[in-house]
Amino acid sequence: MYYIGIDLGTSAVKLLLMEGNGSIQKIVSKEYPIYFPNPGWSEQDPEDWYEQTMEGLKELLSDCDRSQVAGISFGGQMHGLVILDEDDRVIRPALLWNDGRTSEECDYLNEVIGREKLSAYTANIAFTGFTAPKILWVKNKEPEKFARIKKIMLPKDYIAYKLTGVFCTDVSDASGMLLFDVKNRCWSKEMLKICGVREEQLARIYESYEPVGTLLPEIAEKLGVSTEVKVAAGAGDNAAAAVGTGTVGDGMCNISLGTSGTIFISSDKFGVDPYNALHSFAHADGHYHLMGCMLSAASCNKWWMDDIIGTADYAGEQAQIAKLGENHVYFLPYLMGERSPHNDPKARGCFIGMTMDTGRADMTQAVLEGVAFALRDSLEVAKALGIKIRRTKICGGGAKSPLWKKIIANVMNLKVDEIESEEGPALGGAMLAAVACGEYSSVEEAAAAIVKVTGTVEPEEALAAKYEERYNTFRTIYPACRPVFQKL
Ligand code: XUL
Repeated sequence: MYYIGIDLGTSAVKLLLMEGNGSIQKIVSKEYPIYFPNPGWSEQDPEDWYEQTMEGLKELLSDCDRSQVAGISFGGQMHGLVILDEDDRVIRPALLWNDGRTSEECDYLNEVIGREKLSAYTANIAFTGFTAPKILWVKNKEPEKFARIKKIMLPKDYIAYKLTGVFCTDVSDASGMLLFDVKNRCWSKEMLKICGVREEQLARIYESYEPVGTLLPEIAEKLGVSTEVKVAAGAGDNAAAAVGTGTVGDGMCNISLGTSGTIFISSDKFGVDPYNALHSFAHADGHYHLMGCMLSAASCNKWWMDDIIGTADYAGEQAQIAKLGENHVYFLPYLMGERSPHNDPKARGCFIGMTMDTGRADMTQAVLEGVAFALRDSLEVAKALGIKIRRTKICGGGAKSPLWKKIIANVMNLKVDEIESEEGPALGGAMLAAVACGEYSSVEEAAAAIVKVTGTVEPEEALAAKYEERYNTFRTIYPACRPVFQKL
């Protein structure tokens, strides 16, 4: 049988066709625009997601035996606010996970309601990208739109709704709304009250691997597949990526180098970071995880390559980098502000340390290193909690670069396990569909059967020591620049 994983990303939707034994048959990607209507704001049109998903599905299935398609599921960009009116029309463009407009709402939640209460209700505090502050923003700034809200959804759940007519979400994605009681896996009545939300405006919650329904007849007809095709709830993209890299069960780690950069630590027990720098969320395997999220990771490299130096030859640029561990230039990767661990929407990107002999390769290297250093900031928080991590998986577009993986291994002093497929969320989505259809009895079983480690990038003692020194310098730069960022 075939299973489809839909990774509803920020720059594109990626669709993956997997056979029951885990072999990947085909991958299709369809892009859509992102809008930055003001500095630090970011929006997308949910209709673009849906149209491109349908186009992608048609292309994905164009040359296979469609009678063999059994299940579909998702990994989706997290935290985005999609609001529908009583006629199921989208009320306004979706506010995305990297949208920083909700500083005032976050201050209200964190300072007036208070971090302790938020953490007790939801296991997390407010970050500008989370969904609850966005709901408050619409309530405060667009009250007429707020009054029309009938349904509140996350991005991938909008696609599930269009495909099945079922208003659903899953525990991992719901965790990022700040409306969800992560420990008990249910909506938090207290948070709903604080945000002026009624429970009937929110979706029914499922575990990520549970089927929510089947395709609507008109969708099945458009795709040429059976109306019996099951749709499973799916997961937020990071939890789906963790499934796709086998980061399930207890104490496993995955780094995702996508538009965002995340470090994801799976756990079989519920736990909260007392500093709330790491998110405490439900995992798609039925358990929990901790996660640090930086808002711009591979997107920093894309910005530097595409927009600033103007080249498509990423590998060619990286081939010019000769002196790892000896660069005098540093880069702060906060092009959209930063979430973990600084929680500062006003943080900005900057290069520091250039001299007359600084060349283009040093700057490119600084960008790759800056992302690795910023990920290490989250790793340090995990270490301070007593979590011992020695190795990690890696996925996302950035993981295609051998040089970047080497930098990550040495900056973080972790063994980096490379897996056969870096298609984290799309593969994880297909695996969740396979579990929902009974091909595997659990997410762990699917991961053990499907995910294969093909190599390991080991940290090198001398290089790791050089990077240790440089990391200690890197971590002094943000506090020094912070007062300036507040004024920009
Ligand atoms: C996680 C987060 C991002 C998005 C990217 O908290 O905000 O990783 O999920 O799609």
